Amino acid sequence: MSRRVRVFENLEELSRAALERLQGQLRSTSGPFRLSLAGGGTPRELYRMMAGADLPWDRLHLYWGDERYVPHDHPDSNYRMVCEALLDFVAVSPDRIHPWPYLHTPEDSAQAYDRLLQEARMDLVILGMGDDGHTASLFPGTSALEVRDRRAVAHYVEKLKTFRLTTTYPVINEAPLVMFLISGASKAPALEQVLTGRDLPSARVENVGETLFLVDRPAAARLPAELLPPA
Ligand code: 6PG
Repeated sequence: MSRRVRVFENLEELSRAALERLQGQLRSTSGPFRLSLAGGGTPRELYRMMAGADLPWDRLHLYWGDERYVPHDHPDSNYRMVCEALLDFVAVSPDRIHPWPYLHTPEDSAQAYDRLLQEARMDLVILGMGDDGHTASLFPGTSALEVRDRRAVAHYVEKLKTFRLTTTYPVINEAPLVMFLISGASKAPALEQVLTGRDLPSARVENVGETLFLVDRPAAARLPAELLPPA
């Protein structure tokens, strides 16, 4: 496992770098490419750029690293966010788009996604990071952090007073490449802690290949010099 930090002036440059790395991974591989998408707000710019980019859509299989337990058309849905930024503009066969199903209970949804992921190893996992160091819907102090025998779980997140659906570390840590997209001054304290050894959920991403932190200057503001790339 190798960690690398790249710092960008702004979210647009950060997102452009993420797109270029995705394109590089696609050029250096062949066959089906399984991409796990992050939710939240930061990756929207990347997804918008993907909509206008030259990508081999016939190879790409899209998954979601986490989801809220809401219908697909709900404003909080990560699936809806990706549709609005990307999928409404590109023709991807529905059999290569794998949103979390919204079933009768959160556990039903998680069990269905767990079954789907039994045969799916991600080629690239895109993640965000919250101000508290969470990633996907792996929040500090939750039991989901300890799960190793499931690839997808549902859990009630007390902090949010709601259920969340999330892939687990077995899925994330088997990926050859994980890209964190982290933007904004509010992330600076958690990013420093994650990269200097504090046991936060984002620090437990120890995938078999490269973990790439694509961050903007405000998010990098508290990083010690030795963690910053050479000027
Ligand atoms: C979600 C995300 C979550 C997100 C972080 C950062 O469902 O909200 O998967 O893990 O990546 O909360 O969110 P921002 O990128 O919007 O700051």
